[in-house]
Amino acid sequence: MAKFQAPKGVSEYYPDRSIYFDYVRSCIIESAQSSGYELMELPIYEDTELFRRGVGESTDVVSKEMFTFEDRGGRSITLRPEGTAGVMRAVIEHNLDRGQLPIKVYYSGAFFRAERPQAGRYRQFYQVGIEAIGSSDPRIDVEVIAVAHRAFKKLGLKRYRLEITSLGDLETREIYLTKLRAYIETISLDEETYARGAINPLRLFDDKRDEIRLLMSQAPLLLDHLSDESQREFEFVKSLLLKLGIDFEINSHMVRGLDYYTGTAFEFVHDELGAQSGIGGGGRYDGLMAQLGGQELSGIGFGLGLDRILLACEAEGIALPSGFELDLYIVPLGTGNEALIIAEELRGRGLRVDLAFGDKALKGGMKSADRSGAKYSVVLGADELASGSIQLKEMETGVISSVTLSALANELIERISNFGDFS
Ligand code: HAM
Repeated sequence: MAKFQAPKGVSEYYPDRSIYFDYVRSCIIESAQSSGYELMELPIYEDTELFRRGVGESTDVVSKEMFTFEDRGGRSITLRPEGTAGVMRAVIEHNLDRGQLPIKVYYSGAFFRAERPQAGRYRQFYQVGIEAIGSSDPRIDVEVIAVAHRAFKKLGLKRYRLEITSLGDLETREIYLTKLRAYIETISLDEETYARGAINPLRLFDDKRDEIRLLMSQAPLLLDHLSDESQREFEFVKSLLLKLGIDFEINSHMVRGLDYYTGTAFEFVHDELGAQSGIGGGGRYDGLMAQLGGQELSGIGFGLGLDRILLACEAEGIALPSGFELDLYIVPLGTGNEALIIAEELRGRGLRVDLAFGDKALKGGMKSADRSGAKYSVVLGADELASGSIQLKEMETGVISSVTLSALANELIERISNFGDFS
């Protein structure tokens, strides 16, 4: 019978690599939590219209990459291609914007885009994102960037760059887009590209074809047209980033792949990842909430791509701590019922314990103990159970010490210096 395979282009994680994936994710979540962001757990599918309106019809994400289907009630449903529109939907639906502002939330999970799969580009991929909604204070722009920066530092990443720009406010846009449209009228484009530009002319900066790139290199730049207010805010964000020791480069050609951005926009780019070098990105979105039927509140956030961040750590040769190590491996001789009972007791005290299952002889059991990577091991046979005394072996040094069964939990807790540190 033919073997089943995972659907094309999905990323998946299993031991041992899943441990490192988990570590990357928890580093980012910890960084978000340390800045006061709280968990938001949302559905992985939403009304298709939410993404059409929120993310924008001119984007590749909406026009080409959505996994859209009809549910049994004939409603059009789309697997979430990104997280911000869903967060905004939930904030409006549950009136979270009537409470304390800004609302600061994080989310973590799978996202879906029907892209052509390649290294670092998947149809199902993972993000941790944060959103701060309800304040236009530019200090939050800096805080959001600092959350990502802190996580990358903790992971030990070095060869990445932060690129920033400002996409301006409404006033900026109005003046600039008129100029850009006038420029586009002077160049010759195929019908499809022209139509895309008609919905959002900024998108043409994102075109990968050489001939369009050449044409757009002569186009007026948004950064040269910032309103005084936008310019002031951008200068403020840059100076505060510098004060925090966060280096950045200005990328005046940056076009984010989603239409809702205004003001500060940024991307983290890793130099070792080839074509799929964006390990995260985000920015401010002034009009999104109103666009989705809520009040006029600004927000800002990011989405960090866990798959690519893990690839970046591997490309830099970073030895990630597994964050998961067994404290004890028990090799039972005989039926092993007692071993499981003891293991459960120790687990109940917060220790990480595994044991050999099935009819393993002593030799096989010790091999499993070695492979388990546990800090300590113990053989538990009838003699040990009868005497209540065991030989606790420290796996790294091979040193063996006698310990009573009743003192085992305390002994292990005392010896394990990082006990209780699950970071
Ligand atoms: P985005 O730039 O579309 O932003 O995606 C954020 C990150 O997700 C990317 O930088 C990349 O690391 C990862 N990513 C995107 N597509 C793929 C893919 N096909 N395979 C692997 N990784 C991928 C957003 O999604 C916005 N919602 C971020 C945001 C939040 N802006 C404001 N708030």
